Parts: sequence; C-alpha cells; structure tokens
Amino acid sequence: MKIIIVENAAVGSHKAYNLLVQGLQTQARVLGLATGSTPILLYQEMAQSKLDFSHITTINLDEYLGLGPNNPQSYHYFMKQHLFQFKSFSKNYLPNGLAPDINQELQRYDQVIADHPIAIQILGIGQNGHIGFNEPGTSFHSQTHCVTLSSSTRDANARFFPNKQAVPQKAISMGLFSIMQSQRIILMAWGKDKAEAVSQMINGPVTEKCPASILQKHPHTTVILDSAAAAKLN
Ligand code: F6R
Repeated sequence: MKIIIVENAAVGSHKAYNLLVQGLQTQARVLGLATGSTPILLYQEMAQSKLDFSHITTINLDEYLGLGPNNPQSYHYFMKQHLFQFKSFSKNYLPNGLAPDINQELQRYDQVIADHPIAIQILGIGQNGHIGFNEPGTSFHSQTHCVTLSSSTRDANARFFPNKQAVPQKAISMGLFSIMQSQRIILMAWGKDKAEAVSQMINGPVTEKCPASILQKHPHTTVILDSAAAAKLN
C-alpha cells in the first residue's frame, strides 16, 4: 500500500484526481466508483474538468435495495447529481435496487464486472472498516451479494435520510473478491471518525473483521488520508 497524507480533503481529492488522470492516459477504460461523502470533491473536479470520459465505462460498488433511480437517496441519483449529469460516459453500471429477482441481479452484476475488468477502483471506508457495503464478517471471497446493513452503518448514513428508520436495511454490494481484482485502487478517507478504521486497515491484521484490511494484499493500492484520518497511524 502506498500511503499519502495531506492536510485536507480538498488537497487529497486533487491528488486522487491526478492519479485518475494519469491512469486514464494509459489503457484504463473501466472505472469503479463509490458513493458517500468521501468522493464528492473528486467527482466535482472530474465534472468541472475538460476531460472526455465518453470512452470510459463506470461500475458502481453498491445500491440500496428498494430504492429506484429517481429516489434522491439512491446511489443512482447520487451519481447523477454529482457526476453523470455533467459528464457522459460510454456506459454507467449500478446494481438495480428494484430488481424483481435479486439472485438474477447479483449474477447480472458479476457478469458486468467480468465483462469489464476494473482498471481503477475508487473507494471510501466506513467507520467499521467496510468497503463497498461489505460489512465486518463478509468473506474475502465474496462476489456481488445482498447485504444486511449493520446498525453502525445505518447510523452513519442516516445523515442522508430524514431519520435512521428511513435508511434501507439491505443493499446490493460488489464483493471483496471483485474489488481485489481491480488493477489499481485509490482509497480516500477524511476526518477523525475514520482514524480507527484506517489504522486497522493499514496496521491491523488482515481479517474479515476489518474488510478493508484485505487491501494490504493488493499490489497497487494508494491510500489518501487527511491528517485527522491518519491520526492513529504510528
Ligand atoms: C458507498 C461505499 C461505502 C462508503 C463508506 C464511506 O458506495 O462504498 O463503502 O465509501 O460508507 O462513506 P462516506 O464517504 O459517506 O464516509
């Protein structure tokens, strides 16, 4: 893992943007994307750039079960709001939270990932060490699967909903095995609330109790932290 510590999220997001641009100058054609507050400044920079993404395919990590693309809390909506309304891509893939047959949807998404190997995967990290919606205890061998969200993740995400009760109980997430197949990974983390998870991810044992710890075994992962998120690193 390469660790980059910067003073704040704006500087860190700019670093991530530069890494992305560098990657896209090579043969990279498939970008893995995350939602949540962490990548917002990166997406803003992408949206305001002159870059042409029309040959790039995107594959998002996850979507809430039961939320459709027009629901402002859905990840489809989030991506449209922060990036897709400003930039055209070759194709944008997200799990379908309204799929009538969930098992079929999980298989469809695995096929999407198999057909479009991810060159650069953008990640945030949850306070409990989750990546995507792979909560503690998720198998390192997992592919796309249906997840019951932990209470702490629903607490953390309640800020985007009227209240915690409104946060869906379930989601579809790309699995840890699939994330690990990405050629390059850029994980960003901002703020003191992430400091413990970041320390476990980098210095802790590789254990399914901290899903992000598997990234210690990934050959090309760059972790970009602000000083608050890096505070518990020795
Ligand atoms: C969302 C996702 C999650 C978030 C994590 C951090 O697509 O994959 O793993 O990255 O929950 O969320 P924020 O960025 O809101 O702190």
